[in-house]
Amino acid sequence: MTATPVIVAIDGPAGTGKSSTSKAVASRLGLGFLDTGAQYRAMTWWMLAHGVDVNDPAKVAAAAGEPDIVSGTDPLGPTITVDGEDVSGPIRSQEVSAAVSAVSAVPEVRAVITALQRSIAAAAPTGIVAEGRDIGTTVLPDADVKIFLTASPEVRAARRSAELKGKDAAGLAATQAALLKRDAADSARKASPLAKAADAIEVDTSELTLEQVIQCVVTLIEERRRR
Ligand code: DC
Repeated sequence: MTATPVIVAIDGPAGTGKSSTSKAVASRLGLGFLDTGAQYRAMTWWMLAHGVDVNDPAKVAAAAGEPDIVSGTDPLGPTITVDGEDVSGPIRSQEVSAAVSAVSAVPEVRAVITALQRSIAAAAPTGIVAEGRDIGTTVLPDADVKIFLTASPEVRAARRSAELKGKDAAGLAATQAALLKRDAADSARKASPLAKAADAIEVDTSELTLEQVIQCVVTLIEERRRR
């Protein structure tokens, strides 16, 4: 018996555990995994590497079709390349983090990346867990399961700091400030902002362990599959 592919959308602001949760859920259920933030970061990395002024939306729009961004969707070893180059390290730099909201607010960038995301989801043989900001609202509005993860700003900053380990010279307060600034920009932009879909299930992860969040999402997907 071949099961119908299952499409899962996981959205929410930075530091809510979207990536860790999505990867683990995909691997337990045998689904693909797509980190859509990594694609916006890859686009931003390319713009910076090619000297495009990221604060000039017209220049960013004109170049949006140029980079060839390829995402590998194995949850045990996701990959991201731009024009054949592995950029999984450089896309996490502070330089890219500081510029990614401006680049991802440009409609032409969103059009290119949204089309890429839809083609990846459609080609996933068993289905996919896609995580980001606008997956349930814009990219995959017909997803079988939509989850919106939240957590308090303090918890999110602490998680992001722990993730950055020794690399975070800025400290907790600066991490929290940068994170809130990025969320505000991502929520306020005109083109498909960070938003909870009306039919998404909201899970506040502030008081939950990662394992509890994973279990919660796995249960929601299994319930949906039984129906
Ligand atoms: O998930 P992340 O923090 O790596 O995402 C980086 C940025 O990419 C985020 O600040 C906004 C943008 N993004 C987006 O606009 N839409 C998505 N679906 C995912 C990310």
